[in-house]
This record gives sequence, C-alpha cells and structure tokens, in this order.
Amino acid sequence: MTLSAAEVNKLKHAPAVEGVLPVVLGRWSPRSFSSRDVSPANLRKVFEAARWAASAYNEQPWRYIVGTRNSLTHKKIFSTLIGFNQSWAGAAPVLILGVASTKFSHNGTDNIYALHDLGAASSYLTLQASALGLFTHQMAGFDQSAARKAFGVPDDYAFGSVIALGYQGEPAALSNEQLIALETELRTRKALKDFVLSSWDAAAELE
Ligand SMILES: Cc1cc2nc3c(=O)[nH]c(=O)nc-3n(C[C@H](O)[C@H](O)[C@H](O)COP(=O)(O)O)c2cc1C
Repeated sequence: MTLSAAEVNKLKHAPAVEGVLPVVLGRWSPRSFSSRDVSPANLRKVFEAARWAASAYNEQPWRYIVGTRNSLTHKKIFSTLIGFNQSWAGAAPVLILGVASTKFSHNGTDNIYALHDLGAASSYLTLQASALGLFTHQMAGFDQSAARKAFGVPDDYAFGSVIALGYQGEPAALSNEQLIALETELRTRKALKDFVLSSWDAAAELE
C-alpha cells in the first residue's frame, strides 16, 4: 500500500540535528502536488525571502518568471519541461522560471557569480516556502532555448531552474509506479567528511 502524504513527509524529514534550522531539515522536493492554490500573500513572501539573499556586488542578478495555474505563463513554462518532468509538474499550482543577468549593471563586465547568486536566492525561496507549509521542486530538465524563445529572454541572461511550488499531494495521485517509488524513497546525503575539508585530500576536524 502506498504511504500517505503525511507519512511521506515524516519519512523525508532529515534526522534532527541540534541547533540546525527546522526548515532546513524539513524541506524536501515532492513530485505530487495537491490542487490547493498558493495565496498571492504567500507567493509574495517566498519572493521577499529570495530578495534578501546575498549577491556579488549586491547585483541581485536573479529574475523570476512566475505562472499560476491556468495562466499562459504556467502553460508556457510547462511546455518547456522534458517529458519526465511533464509527467508530474503540471499539477503544481505555481511554476517559476529562474534566470540570471550575466553582466554587472555597474560596468557591463561578466558576472561569473550570476548563477551562484540565483541559486542562493532560490534556496531562500525554497526555505521560506517550507516555513509556510509549502513545497518546492526544482528542475533542470527543461529546454532552455525553448524557454528563451517563449519568454524573449535576452542572450545575456542565463537559466537556472524551473521551480514547482505548491502544497504536497498524495503520493498515490502520481501517474505511475516509478514516480510513486521516487516519492517514497529515503533522502540521502554525503557525510560532512566528504565535503568539509582542511586540505584537498583531508577532511576538516569539526569537533
Ligand atoms: C538545480 C536542480 C535541478 C533539478 N532537476 C530536477 C529535474 O529535472 N527533475 C526532477 O524530478 N528533479 C530535479 N531536481 C530535484 C533533485 O533531484 C532533488 O533536489 C535531490 O534529489 C535532493 O532531494 P531533496 O530536494 O528532496 O532534498 C533538481 C534539483 C536541483 C536543485
């Protein structure tokens, strides 16, 4: 029998670590979204959180194209997704396309941190969403040139991810067994020793 949404939400929760922000531990990326819409007030809050991310030169290179259910923008973002993502993401009431300006506005030179800073802003967005009881699922699986064409995105803007935003749905509502299996599998992460280093080939001592 497939687990319920509430059971999966528990299963996906990262193990408690004293002092780590609860939203960080509780955020995960579902593929099943319920039919409940996101209020304009909550939508505004997630972008407010993104707004306050740090960025190189305070450039704030991020731009978000946001489409709510049944809007032309939602349809256009959806149409750029690869088939696998189309098999689940259409149920999300909000689809967001993240792009970043790759030139500094103060002098026109390349901003090689543009995607880094878009990613930081998007992380804030996902955590704020989690704090509001919302869920996000980022996707790289979309056709960037189709998205550029669909929205007239200028060449000096680079693409980040498409973000599905909404409330968690029942895993059983997903369209196939593969999606249900992914929805109910445990989340895994590298150990700290594998990415916190004191030199290139040595883990940092953290205690
Ligand atoms: C930049 C980026 C691109 C991703 N692309 C896809 C995607 O195209 N399709 C998909 O189903 N999940 C995608 N994911 C979701 C990741 O697989 C997921 O975040 C990862 O497995 C960790 O799971 P968690 O977010 O539940 O912690 C993407 C995530 C990120 C951050």
